[in-house]
Amino acid sequence: MSEFSDDGIANPNPRNAFEDVVARRYGRRAVLGGSLATAATFLAAGPAGALPRSSPSRPRHRQALMDFESIPLHFGDRPAISPDYEFSTLIPWGTPINSSGPAFSWPVTSSADQEAQIGIGHDGMWFFAENGSSDSGWLCINHEFGRTTHVLDKPVPETVEDVRIMQAAHGNSVVKIGRDQRGVWEVVDDAANRRITVNTPVTFSGPAAGSALLENPAGNAPAGTLNNCANGYTPWGTYLTCEENFNGYFGSTGGWTASAEQARYGFTNAGFGYAWHGFDPRFDLASADYVNEANRFGWIVEYDPRDPDTPPVKRTALGRAKHEGCALTIGRGGRAVAYMGDDQRFDYIYKFVSDRNHRSMLARGMSPLDHGVLYAARFDEDGTGHWVELSLNNPAVAAGFSSEDEVLVNARIAADLAGATPMDRPEWTTVAPDGTVYCTLTNNTQRTEPNPANPQAPNPNGHIIRWTDSDRHVGTSFEWDIFVFADDTVGTGHDFGSADGLWADPSGRLFIQTDGAQPTGANDQMLVASSATGEIRRLFGGVEGCEITGIAVTPDQRTMFINVQHPGNGDSAVTRFPDFDPSLPPRDSTVVITRKDGGVVGS
Ligand code: FEO
Ligand code: CA
Ligand code: CA
Repeated sequence: MSEFSDDGIANPNPRNAFEDVVARRYGRRAVLGGSLATAATFLAAGPAGALPRSSPSRPRHRQALMDFESIPLHFGDRPAISPDYEFSTLIPWGTPINSSGPAFSWPVTSSADQEAQIGIGHDGMWFFAENGSSDSGWLCINHEFGRTTHVLDKPVPETVEDVRIMQAAHGNSVVKIGRDQRGVWEVVDDAANRRITVNTPVTFSGPAAGSALLENPAGNAPAGTLNNCANGYTPWGTYLTCEENFNGYFGSTGGWTASAEQARYGFTNAGFGYAWHGFDPRFDLASADYVNEANRFGWIVEYDPRDPDTPPVKRTALGRAKHEGCALTIGRGGRAVAYMGDDQRFDYIYKFVSDRNHRSMLARGMSPLDHGVLYAARFDEDGTGHWVELSLNNPAVAAGFSSEDEVLVNARIAADLAGATPMDRPEWTTVAPDGTVYCTLTNNTQRTEPNPANPQAPNPNGHIIRWTDSDRHVGTSFEWDIFVFADDTVGTGHDFGSADGLWADPSGRLFIQTDGAQPTGANDQMLVASSATGEIRRLFGGVEGCEITGIAVTPDQRTMFINVQHPGNGDSAVTRFPDFDPSLPPRDSTVVITRKDGGVVGS
C-alpha cells in the first residue's frame, strides 16, 4: 500500500541510543559531510555485502540458483515476464467466489454483491494444498485497501450502503482453486469459499482477550479485519492475516483529541480520507459508545481456511502494531517463532516465541500463539543485536504499564520504553532455509539521523537487513548485517527501490517485490536474488501505477501466485489491466506464474 501507508511519523522520539553510532563507527566526516553513501558503501561492500567484523556465518551455495533470462526495466500498461516464463491472471477484484455469485459490474452499487465477490487490494496470500496436491487447494488472500473512487466512482461515501460496499471490498477471501482440463487455474465451488470482511464476527484470544481496553460501552461484539497487508502461515495449517494501516479508517465527527496512545498509532480527525466515521459510529473516534473500537484493530489474525464455521481469532500475545506480515518458523524445542515488521517510519521489528513446543501445546488444546514472549529488536553497532522483552518482566516496560493487556494493546509504546531500534519502515520478514531472517526496510524519506541498522539519511530507496538469532530462533541475541542497499543496485540492470514483499524459498532464493517509486521510474516488479551470492535477476514487471505483492506457491513450487495491486492506482486512463475492456476499470488481480519448461519458479 504505497501512498496511504506513507502517513508520516507516529513515533514521537525517533532517536535512540545509537543516534551517533554511525558517526562513531565510520567517522563524523562520512556522516556530517553529506556522504552517507560512503558509510553505506562501507557497510554494503557489494550487493551481498556484510559488516566486516560480524557477519553471521552461513553456508555458501556453489550451484547457481537462477538460470532464467532477466528482463530489462519495465514500463507501460501491461506486465512483462522473463522469456523463460509465462503468466495468466486469476481472481481479479469482483470475481464471484462461487459460480452462482453475482458477476462484477462497475461501479459497485451493492454491498451484498461485493460480499459474494473477491475483494480489492490483493496483497499477502498463501496456498493450502488439498492433500498435498499442486493442482488443487485453497487460496487465502488479503484485500488490503481500495480507493473510494476506484470502487464507488465517487470521492467519498455518501450513504451507509456506500460504506458497507467499501467494508465488503476489504478483508480476506478464501477460494478453492484448481487446474481445469487445459491446466488453467480457476475458482472451484466449495463450501469453504467465503469472504471475511470488516463486518465478519471475530474473537480475541491470548493475554489481552477480555481486557477492558477491548470492550466498548455499546457492547458490540468484535467484528472485522482491516487493511490486511502481508501474511503468514503455520505448520498446523492455518493462515495468518495481518492488520496494517487500520488507523486510516477511523476519523472524528468532532470534539475528539488523540490520547497519547492513539497518537502513537497515528489516529487523526480525518484518517486517510475514507470517511467511514460519518456513517458508521464504530469508526468515529468521537463516539463515546465505541471508545475502544480502534483497539480492536492492529492484530495478527488466525483462521483455518478449511473451517468456515469458526470465526477468525485475533492473537493478542503477538502485540498490536501496524503489522505488515508474520513469518512463522519453528525454533529450538519445537517452539513457534514469529517475526513481524511494523510498517511506519521509525517503528520496530518484533518477534514472538511460544512458551513450549507447538505440537504439545496444540495437543493440549492451547494455541502456540496465545502463550509466549513478545520482543522488539535492538540493533547494536558492533553487528550484534538484542531482543528486548515487551512485558512487565522488563523493568523499562514496567515503568510505563501496570498490566500485560495494556502492554500488548500498546506494544509500540512498550517497545519505545524498552529501547528498540527505530527502523526505516519494516515490511515483510522471511526465514531462509539456513535460519537467516530477512526483512525489507522499504524506505524512509524523513530520516535525518542514521543508526547502525539504518545508516542512510534520508533513505528513499530502502535496504534489506538480515540476522541470525541465537539458540535457533528462541534466544535473545542475534548477529546482523545488511543484505543489500537498493541504492547500490541503481545502474546495475537489476535496479530496484522500496522493497516490500519478500519470501525465501527452500533453496535459498529470495523473491523481492517492490512497492513505490522506483529509482529509475520503472514499474514495480518482482526480482529473484540468491541469498548465497547476492546475484539478483528481474523476473516480472508490473503495470504502471501498481505495486507487486503477495507470494504463494504450490508444494512442488512449479506454480507461483503473486498479486498486481492497485493497477494504474485505479485510473482507467493509466491501464485497464487485466481485462483491457473499455467498460471495465483496472482491477487488482492475482497473477499465476509458471516456467515454460515446467521447472521450479525462480530457477
Ligand atoms: Fe501494506 Fe507496508 O505495506
Ligand atoms: Ca506491503
Ligand atoms: Ca509498502
